[in-house]
Amino acid sequence: MSRDKQGELITVTGPVFGDEGKAKIVDWLAWNNPTVAAVARYQGGDNAGHTVVVGRQEYRFHYVPSGILAAQQKKLMCVLGRGMVVSLPRLFAEIQQLAQLGVEVNPSNLLISQGIHLTLPYHMALERARESGGARKDTTKKAISQTYGFAHLYQGVRAGDIVGDVRRVSQLIDEPLAWANAILTEVYGELRISKQEVMSEIEDHRRRLSPFLHNEIKFLNTCLDKGSSVICEGAQGGMLDVDLGIYPYTTASNTWPAAIQHGCGLDPRRITRQIYVVKAYLTRVGQGPLVSEIPDDDERGKIIRERGHEYGTTTGRPRRVGWFDQIIGRFGRAISPPTELAITKADVLSGLDLRVCVDYKMGGVILSIFPTSMITLQACQPIYQDFTGWDEDITGASCWDDLPSQCQNYLKKAPSCYGAPITMVGTGPERNQIILV
Ligand code: IMP
Repeated sequence: MSRDKQGELITVTGPVFGDEGKAKIVDWLAWNNPTVAAVARYQGGDNAGHTVVVGRQEYRFHYVPSGILAAQQKKLMCVLGRGMVVSLPRLFAEIQQLAQLGVEVNPSNLLISQGIHLTLPYHMALERARESGGARKDTTKKAISQTYGFAHLYQGVRAGDIVGDVRRVSQLIDEPLAWANAILTEVYGELRISKQEVMSEIEDHRRRLSPFLHNEIKFLNTCLDKGSSVICEGAQGGMLDVDLGIYPYTTASNTWPAAIQHGCGLDPRRITRQIYVVKAYLTRVGQGPLVSEIPDDDERGKIIRERGHEYGTTTGRPRRVGWFDQIIGRFGRAISPPTELAITKADVLSGLDLRVCVDYKMGGVILSIFPTSMITLQACQPIYQDFTGWDEDITGASCWDDLPSQCQNYLKKAPSCYGAPITMVGTGPERNQIILV
């Protein structure tokens, strides 16, 4: 099949610390692009919290791709790719909660990769034990790193493994369970997890899971080959990538667009639109350096947090707030330059004088490149450029020309570090509060 005829492959990712409002952009594209046949997640798990607001109704997704609302009306398949990790009780609880809101999720609109790794009770016990044993306390407590960790030790259990012969499943969990129990009891002095507990969780869900399972690689590539478009929805953000982010203050998966390759079997060279969703300021949940963090005695940080509802969708924790950081932007541009930008939450900044972090300095030295060493990063100080803000409420703006000139100036200059045009500006939480540029 000639690649000239392929459909669009659109990635929607965040290059910073997540929580940029990717879901709203994915939902918009799924509704408005007539050729979209699939919306796929390819990494992470329910550590993600994706929100779409339609009128007074707020839909929160943790596993299910944000394209599911469009899938209620048009023929479109949502996909969970093999780069994800999934706890079946939590996935089916989410499906049930969505059903209560009138969103039907079933095998006709959700495809789950046979290769997805499952989060099981011993992963959860290890995550709890690590935390109470003094390890980092800022994870979302979903055992994301435990599940990926066991997968890398060749001790994972994948969705396709549990739908066949139950004796085989039982054998499959013997080694990881023994391993987990040794750590739980010897290292942390915790109680063992019984095999019965693990098997009954599997038994409770495996029949229900079976009709959802397919080969997502074949499905997604066929969509593209036939001229239909595919949207890949990222979770977390580039600076939380386990290899390219600020390790160890990262999540356990690869979050940049190229992760679609091992996350759902799509060749990154087929990407036609690489959209970075970038918030007009910075937030971060959890620990780790945040060079442009707004200090506690600057009221603007609190105003932004309250106005922007900067509390974790998954954990409810207050997010740390910082000024837009061009060093991080230049890092993203170097790793994987976007073709376009969607800027979100500019409306939150109305009435504030603004700053943009344009460089870092350490001692007297200006660093023009994002430092990958944690020690260097912790010693960095921000260098700011000040921007005059705007007083107008921009939540009702419907085109670029409706935006005040100071807002236009800020939006042109702050994200210029990404070297890509802005094609969308979010002006409020609602689905239709979006300006196409
Ligand atoms: P984990 O992914 O639960 O292991 O958490 C590791 C780190 O990533 C923690 O600091 C979390 O707060 C952060 N994190 C995980 N998922 C998200 C997300 O969707 N948005 C923002 N931060 C996240």
